Amino acid sequence: PLPEPFRVPLPVPRVISPHRTDDADHYAITQRESTAEILPGVRTPIWGYDGTFPGPTVESRRDRTAVVHHRNELPVPTVVHLHGGRTPADSDGYPTELVLPVTGWDAGHGGHGTHDARARISNGSRDYVFPLRQRAATLWYHDHRMDFTGPAVYRGLAGFHLVRDDEEDALGLPSGDRELPLMIVDRAFDEHGAFAYPSLDRTLRTVPGVEDAYVEGVFGDVILVNGAPWPVHEVAAVRHRLRVLNASNARRYDLALDPPPPGGGGFVQIGSDQGLLDAPRSHDHLPVAPAERYDVVVDFGRYPVGAEVTLVNRLGSGTTARVMKFVVARSAPDDSRVPAKLATITPPSRSQATTTREFSFRGGRVHGRAGWVIGGEPFAPDRMSATPRLGDVEVWRFIADVHHPVHLHLVGFHVLSRGGGPPGPFDGGIKDTVDLSPGEAVEVVMRFDGYRGRYVFHCHNAEHEDMAMMANFEVV
Ligand code: C2O
Ligand code: CU
Repeated sequence: PLPEPFRVPLPVPRVISPHRTDDADHYAITQRESTAEILPGVRTPIWGYDGTFPGPTVESRRDRTAVVHHRNELPVPTVVHLHGGRTPADSDGYPTELVLPVTGWDAGHGGHGTHDARARISNGSRDYVFPLRQRAATLWYHDHRMDFTGPAVYRGLAGFHLVRDDEEDALGLPSGDRELPLMIVDRAFDEHGAFAYPSLDRTLRTVPGVEDAYVEGVFGDVILVNGAPWPVHEVAAVRHRLRVLNASNARRYDLALDPPPPGGGGFVQIGSDQGLLDAPRSHDHLPVAPAERYDVVVDFGRYPVGAEVTLVNRLGSGTTARVMKFVVARSAPDDSRVPAKLATITPPSRSQATTTREFSFRGGRVHGRAGWVIGGEPFAPDRMSATPRLGDVEVWRFIADVHHPVHLHLVGFHVLSRGGGPPGPFDGGIKDTVDLSPGEAVEVVMRFDGYRGRYVFHCHNAEHEDMAMMANFEVV
């Protein structure tokens, strides 16, 4: 039986401190099997960074290098990707740059991902170096092993990495316990309380993908926030900053506050994937596709003390129609602000673009099975789909058959157009993931600066990604 909603308190993932600080901040994380009490009284086996789900939160300052040592005590290879990170290619978690288990790995297990001459394979552990020459933003890290990202993230390999900077700190936004990272996922459980993931190969060694019925993606009937089912959180009647991350494999949400505050506009969006907007935007609801982040301020002072405010999912039904509950427990002074001007953003323009490229995201045949392809081609490490020059501005046009949240590594982009018209109300700011609706074309513009090297772009529906909806670009 599923637990009663709104009984379990909202957990906040532990923030880890560096074990050493010199010209960089050095962290160490062990990826290991563990259990978590997600359903009350039940131990669910997980794969966790430091054995927890979500993993520990890393907090960095802009321009301050974080070196994260990852040790793999799991039974399969892993790859760490810092999603939204502006990261040199050799630390970006290219899907074949495996960290093999400390206990060893029989190369005969192969899988497609081991036949990549360019990939550097590590035995047991490695350092990932994140220079973080980028704006303050809500980043997250997760597993990215070729063909097996879906089941690895589903078992728990995801955590927050927040980047802060002086500009943002100076704004006076809600902070401390009035700033909450919210990692929203859906999960299904089997009769023993284990995560139920319909892998074709339950050993996760060679056969990628899911059973035929799950080609659209794997969905669960239990909504977790920071690893707890439909949690409850008591707040003071003041502004709170919510860093919303949809870390679900495939589920899209349309979040709303029930009841809405008098006058509506309950979510004041201050940031998107890649940090602050230029100015706040009010929304009554928030559509959030996999991997997208929305940084919003909710003023619980607009509700009476004692109010119970449910975060609902308008795209869900039954158990998936609710996410969590806030209880406005007490009044308190509020010295936070949401300034009318948040940041200065100067997007590159269409006229600066040297190249326009087009990529279709569609269903297709992959290794003889139903899968998903970009530009008609399944992912292969040696197939280069674009070679932008370092510093160049390009326009990329994406077109989709069904919903696909499209994500580019390395760069943030601006949405130029959606469905042939202007960007939508949720396309503001600098994005790294954009959700395409069925049949819709979206154009984005970005400058390929930062680092040269090979990176991927892909659908962030994790099952689509594992079924080959990924491609390479090389910054040259
Ligand atoms: Cu969040 Cu390529 O991933
Ligand atoms: Cu997709």
